[in-house]
Amino acid sequence: AVERTLSIVKPDAVGKNVIGEILARFEKAGLQIVAAKMVKLDEEKAGGFYAEHKERPFFPALVSFMTSGPVVVQVLEGENAIALNRELMGATNPQQAAAGTIRADFAESIDANAVHGSDSAASAEREIAYFFAADEICSR
Ligand code: CMP
Repeated sequence: AVERTLSIVKPDAVGKNVIGEILARFEKAGLQIVAAKMVKLDEEKAGGFYAEHKERPFFPALVSFMTSGPVVVQVLEGENAIALNRELMGATNPQQAAAGTIRADFAESIDANAVHGSDSAASAEREIAYFFAADEICSR
């Protein structure tokens, strides 16, 4: 089924100047970018996005990292978009990410891991609405 998923190019990847290379991978895999913006997250916005991790020991470092520089938030649309994006990203820990995945190629650590992608249909729905109003999404 055609799905939508939320993707974030994180501050480490923006800092490495590889926004375009990462977005090109989505397009080459057949996903369409139907919404996109660059934003600098503050603590409240980043903390709310990752609210499900609030009690985890890595939460403070995660919020600190995600507010350390601008991010590029996108909505990707296509057949099986949620799982396809997760395949393209590779494992959360870049040390465990398969060769040729975005995290294997661009990420340094589990904290600075280049990209975020929704992990389920329910997360995708929440995460897309967290960043985009309905009229900011441009399906083609
Ligand atoms: P992301 O997919 O954006 O979702 C939560 C983020 O927390 C994850 O990517 C990692 O960058 C970060 N993180 C740091 N430590 C861990 C951990 N032990 N398990 C899962 N995520 C972690």
